[in-house]
Amino acid sequence: MEKSLFYFLGVCLMVQLVNDYTSNYTEYVVIGILTSSALWYGYCFLIKPLNIQRKLADVGYEKYFTENQWVSKDKLHQIRAMMRLRKKGALPPVYPNGWFALLDSDQVNINQVKYVAALGENFAVFRSSYGDVNILNAYCPHLGANMAVGGIVRGNCLQCPFHGWKFDGKDGKCVEIPNNGSNVLPKSSVRKWQSHEANGFIFVWYHVENEEPSWYPPRVKEISEWAYRGRSEHYVNAHIQDIPENGADVSHLSMLHGDMALGGQYAAQANTSLWKIVGTHKWKAAWKVEENQKHVSILDLEHKLEILKKFTVFKMNVEAHQIGPGLVVLNFKTSFGPIKLIQVVTPVEPMIQKVVHRIYCPLYLSLYGSIVLFMEALMFERDVVIWNHKTYIEKPLASKQEITLLAHRKWYKQFYSNNSHNFSFRKETMDW
Ligand code: FES
Ligand SMILES: [Fe+2]
Repeated sequence: MEKSLFYFLGVCLMVQLVNDYTSNYTEYVVIGILTSSALWYGYCFLIKPLNIQRKLADVGYEKYFTENQWVSKDKLHQIRAMMRLRKKGALPPVYPNGWFALLDSDQVNINQVKYVAALGENFAVFRSSYGDVNILNAYCPHLGANMAVGGIVRGNCLQCPFHGWKFDGKDGKCVEIPNNGSNVLPKSSVRKWQSHEANGFIFVWYHVENEEPSWYPPRVKEISEWAYRGRSEHYVNAHIQDIPENGADVSHLSMLHGDMALGGQYAAQANTSLWKIVGTHKWKAAWKVEENQKHVSILDLEHKLEILKKFTVFKMNVEAHQIGPGLVVLNFKTSFGPIKLIQVVTPVEPMIQKVVHRIYCPLYLSLYGSIVLFMEALMFERDVVIWNHKTYIEKPLASKQEITLLAHRKWYKQFYSNNSHNFSFRKETMDW
């Protein structure tokens, strides 16, 4: 729809302009195509927020990884086979306790319900007629229909599509059974999950011991004032802890993220590409636990780009607040102005993480915001390549530099508890 509008505008503009300069039909067509394409791509990059999407098979499973496998050529089949063959190591539990983003806020409209399977649970996420979000167990306690598939939002309730039982979003209680008069069965209710909407995401509180939330994702006030410049979404074949641990792994920065992002998703390739001649990223990093909030840790990053080994450009400082096990708020201070990047990590399976970034900046920095998101996604994919194939070394042969990594592991342990599920839990109950 948007694209046709731009092509229509392009054709109108072309007719206006070309009328004065040419009467040649071929020139008409060529100028028309060029004008409308320029308008479309200009709109996509300058005005429309980016939407970068990478599925599990898109990053780090190139031909030379998979061509010698004994399974079919189907990429997903190959990846599943590689997941089985991979030595995972003595992994920590697979689902930490905390707030996890299930969806972006704009993915659930008023009166809409969405199904999300994550954290070993099945959620029906719906936005009531009044605008607030509720999360219930997806399976109806009557006869097991998935209420997120075909269920109907009525006011603050979700109605099951099978026999029409209606459940209140605020507490999960059944409030109506059709053709049963006012006789609602006692105790007929579905599990209600605590939800919280902030910073463009819908979060669920997951705690295996059923404890109440001891903290909430903070609201970043700039997000409602600045321009939204886009999102990236990656599916990563890794344990959740690998992703936040990357922030405390200071010594990987120059090896994996030193060569320019445009050199590609493999550090080795980037190192031999022409981009290597153009410039190098220089990083300095420090990681610490926030003193007054034990569920928060802070990574301080200093970045500059050294061009032709002479000129230093794109200086920036990034303060990344890791808030709980699955949320990071990154505050960028760049030479051009400030940027906020929100990262969320959610386990959709024990060894598959969904990672979403959303970026915001003042309106005058719109183009810059899109470029930063694009570059950040390229750099992130270098980590994804490693995560997709690594094993977990419980006791790393750590050098002095790795002290922060070990400190991070100790810090992250607070999100596991006695009944946290181990990886073997998944293996026993499901056939991989
Ligand atoms: S299965 Fe939901 S009302 Fe019957
Ligand atoms: Fe990294």
